Amino acid sequence: MDRLETSARLMIVSDLDHTMVDHHDPENLSLLRFNALWESKYRHDSLLVFSTGRSPTLYKQLRKEKPMLTPDITIMSVGTEITYGISMVPDDGWVDILNKKWDRNIVVEEASKVPELKLQSETEQRPHKVSFYVDKSKAQELTKELSEKLAKRELDVKIIYSGGMDLDILPKSAGKGQALAYLFQKFKKEGKSPKNTLVCGDSGNDAELFSIPEVYGVMVSNAQEELLQWHAENAKHNSKIIHAVERCAGGIIQAIGQFGLGPNTSPRDVSETADSHLEDAGPAHEVVKFNISYEKWRRAEVEHCETYIESLKASCLPTGSFIHPSGVEKCLRESICAMKRIYGDEEGKGYRVWVDRVLPTKISSDTWLVKFVKWEVLGGLISLPSTSLQSYYMCYSCHSSLLITQLFLRAVKGVLYNVISSYCMFSLTYNPF
Ligand code: GLC
Ligand code: MG
Repeated sequence: MDRLETSARLMIVSDLDHTMVDHHDPENLSLLRFNALWESKYRHDSLLVFSTGRSPTLYKQLRKEKPMLTPDITIMSVGTEITYGISMVPDDGWVDILNKKWDRNIVVEEASKVPELKLQSETEQRPHKVSFYVDKSKAQELTKELSEKLAKRELDVKIIYSGGMDLDILPKSAGKGQALAYLFQKFKKEGKSPKNTLVCGDSGNDAELFSIPEVYGVMVSNAQEELLQWHAENAKHNSKIIHAVERCAGGIIQAIGQFGLGPNTSPRDVSETADSHLEDAGPAHEVVKFNISYEKWRRAEVEHCETYIESLKASCLPTGSFIHPSGVEKCLRESICAMKRIYGDEEGKGYRVWVDRVLPTKISSDTWLVKFVKWEVLGGLISLPSTSLQSYYMCYSCHSSLLITQLFLRAVKGVLYNVISSYCMFSLTYNPF
C-alpha cells in the first residue's frame, strides 16, 4: 500500500456481513460508531482492509445500502480477489498464484454430479470460486464426498462452509487467511509490516484469518456456530483471540480496547457537552466531530439553543471563511447563524452523515489542510440536490483549541449510489488566544 510511507500502526482486516455490517440494525449504529473512530484516530497512519465472501458485484451493492468507509485494500470472493485503493486496482500476482493446480471446469463438472448442491447466483461464480447452497445437515458429508471426487481428478482445492448455508470451492492456495498471508509477505518485502493486526469475523470463511500467526482476532458476539466450533477445536488457548460481548462493529471497537491497540472511544459516544481531552485533539478528530454535530443538529438530537450556536461561532477564527462550491466566499461566523434555520429539518427521516478518507496535511507550523469525503444519506434513499446541501455547511465544534479558518466544499456532480458525496477541505489552525 503506497499511501503509507512506513508500517501501519494498526491494520484491521474485517469481514463485512454480520461483522463490520450488522444486518439486524437498521440504524447502523455500531458501523457509524466504528467509522467515526477510524476516521478520527486511525485513518492517517493505519490500514483498513475489508475481506468479504462477496463478489465485486455484491460488494458494490452493499456499499450502496450501508454507511461504509472506503477501505485501503478490498479482498473479495473469499480471498480470491485482492484490489487496492479507491479505484480497486487488482493484484495480478495473486491471480497467478491461484491459477496453479486449478481448473474451474473440472470443479463445475464434478459438483454437477452432486444433486444436493444448489448453485448460487451467477454473480457469485468467480474465476477462482464456485459457490453453492447446502443444507446444514448435509454439509459435512457433502464436503467429504466432494473433496474425494476432486482429489481423484488431481485438483488441489479448499472447501469452505459458512453461515450455515454457503459452500465455496476455491483453489487450495486461496481463502481469506492465505490472502492475508500474501499481503503480509508483500508488506515484509517493502519493510512495512503492520505494527499490529486485528482480524475480525463471524463465520466459517473467516476461520483462516484467525490462524495467521501474530494477529489479534475478534469473533463478534453474534459469530456463527461453525466459527465458534473451529475456535474451540483449534485455537482455544490463544489469548490473542477473543469472543466479543458486543455485536458486529461494536465487537471490533471492544477488541481494539481489550487488546490495547489504541484509542477506542468513538466520537459518536462522546456527548456534545463533554469536555474534550487532550488526547482527542487533532485535525481529523475535529472534522469528524464537526460532521457529527451537524448531523445531530439536523436530526434534532441536540438541544435547540442560542448558546449552542454562539459556542459554534466562537470556535471559528473571526476572519475564517467559507468557500461555497459556486466560488463565493463568505464569513464563517456569520454563516453559522444560517444553521438555525435547518434545526431538525431531517428529524425522523433516517438522515446520516459520515466522513471518509479524512487525511490531514500540515501546511504550516500550526495549520492543517484536511481533505475528506462527506457521505450523506436520507432514509436509505437520497433525494437532496447537491446544491441545497452546501449552503449551511459552516459550523464548527466548540470544544477544541483548534479553530476552523477555512472551509472549502466541492460538490460532486450527480448522485453516487444512493448517497451524496462531496469532497471537502478544512483548514484548521491553533487558537492563538
Ligand atoms: C458471500 C458470497 C457467497 C459465499 C459466502 C460465504 O455471501 O456472496 O458467494 O458463498 O459469502 O463465503
Ligand atoms: Mg460474515
